Amino acid sequence: MQTEVLEHPIYLDYAATTPVDERVLDAMLPCFRTAFGNAASLHRMGRAAAEAVERAREQVSDLVGCFSRDVIWTSGATEANNLAIKGFVRSAGRRSPHIVSQRIEHKAVLDPLDSLRREGVDVTLLEVDANGQIDPSVVEKAIRPETVLVTLMAANNELGTLTPLREIGAICGKAGIAIHTDASQAAGKIPINARELGLTLMSVSGHKLYGPKGIGALIFRREAGTKILTPIIDGGGHERGMRSGTLNVPAIVGLGVACEIAVSEMTEDAERVRGLRDDFESTLLAEIPDTFVNGVDSPRLPNISNMSFVGVDAESLLLALDGIAASTGSACTAASIEPSHVLKALGLPVPRQKSSVRFSFGKPTTLKEVRRALEMIIPTVHSLRRLADEAFI
Ligand SMILES: Cc1ncc(COP(=O)(O)O)c(C=O)c1O
Repeated sequence: MQTEVLEHPIYLDYAATTPVDERVLDAMLPCFRTAFGNAASLHRMGRAAAEAVERAREQVSDLVGCFSRDVIWTSGATEANNLAIKGFVRSAGRRSPHIVSQRIEHKAVLDPLDSLRREGVDVTLLEVDANGQIDPSVVEKAIRPETVLVTLMAANNELGTLTPLREIGAICGKAGIAIHTDASQAAGKIPINARELGLTLMSVSGHKLYGPKGIGALIFRREAGTKILTPIIDGGGHERGMRSGTLNVPAIVGLGVACEIAVSEMTEDAERVRGLRDDFESTLLAEIPDTFVNGVDSPRLPNISNMSFVGVDAESLLLALDGIAASTGSACTAASIEPSHVLKALGLPVPRQKSSVRFSFGKPTTLKEVRRALEMIIPTVHSLRRLADEAFI
């Protein structure tokens, strides 16, 4: 007989994805059933769909601080990052353009950069310190006459650490260089205003902020200087030629409502979730020796906790914690389990890298769930350590 816990694990993986808010789902359902028109059609149903899309553009722009015309719909943050980076650099018009980024970016930025590198673009990946922080003066020094773009994530998905975008935005503004940020983890969790930060481009993902999967947006602030972006998807000229393809109206409506909810509830949610996260961390630090919070000395998102339990293999811990859904940053390669590129870039001791687990908290997380998770994690870490010690006797 399965226990309740096995059927419903305590979900502490909200940085991986979030459930769709009921209010978002309610707004989406009519777009599947009755209001299913194509936003490109001229008849009444098409016009209604187009109006719903424009309303969603307003809702997104209210959250991220741009004009609604700056919002380009994409299939998610991965596509938004690709469009921002490849589209921008390809239209920059320089013979040998240069891009500045950092080692701890998500693969949805690192891989497009790699692909541009193969086309002859020069890419500098800057180092971060042991807390995942990038020094704005290092960014300033990396800028060269050929530099066309700086791309730095707003918040790191493994650590929750925040990039000093205000300082870096000002540096880029002074140098007349475009700046892109992958705000997948930050948008809807903390205030992030593209206009105030002087950002040219910003990527947002629906499923990280209680919206649906398969939808996102690239914010492209033409007023920030550059006028053009070379599309990466051609065919029909939707989104003013920036991203062709029939608009996913239900998902767009869902993302819009998710953003509107975030505008009104984000501050209160953040405070509550930060309280749960901080209690969780301090209990684990007090109860388990040789435990560390990675990135703790950086400003951080309120909802992510990356912890290392030295002497315990992170994958074994997650397998043992069957009643909890959390993540490791590790990637399984053919031969071994490798610590993530983020933890490596921090230069942490290897035992800390190998024992790192990311717990992430969300709107539905309750104090009861956190207490229950602690009751499972503490004895499991102790017993895995005992087993590891016995193996060496
Ligand atoms: C920082 C970051 N960038 C990009 C992505 C990819 O977003 P999407 O799933 O919307 O393509 C994620 C999600 O895993 C992320 O955390």
